[in-house]
Amino acid sequence: MSQLEAANSGDVRQGAVHAVTLSGTKIGLTRVDGAVQAFVNKCPHLGLPLTKGKIKDGVITCPFHGSSFNLCSGAAQDWVTGIMGVNLPGAVRGVIAMGKTPHGLAKLEASEVDGKVYVSLG
Ligand code: FES
Repeated sequence: MSQLEAANSGDVRQGAVHAVTLSGTKIGLTRVDGAVQAFVNKCPHLGLPLTKGKIKDGVITCPFHGSSFNLCSGAAQDWVTGIMGVNLPGAVRGVIAMGKTPHGLAKLEASEVDGKVYVSLG
């Protein structure tokens, strides 16, 4: 599988998402414990970008409805907890979920060579 150059290593930092588009695919890049993590930059809930998501302990939280995902595995940790950072009761969360069931972030293979980050689109 071919890897495409996605970013300079220095642009990819822990605690933030560096957003790029490769061959029409929106990609998020960040680091967890120094290792580059790449994912399709669309929240599995409604497909909105995770670029402004909060990252803590290797988990990113969607800024829109609070779903959160492990950046290393892609696994969903929480699913639709509120709106724009305000937690809501379970019944309201169900409405906001719009019938979507929890699923994980689409992870992409990434590597780093000679100051460049490469991503496989799979
Ligand atoms: S778009 Fe991310 S939780 Fe709804």
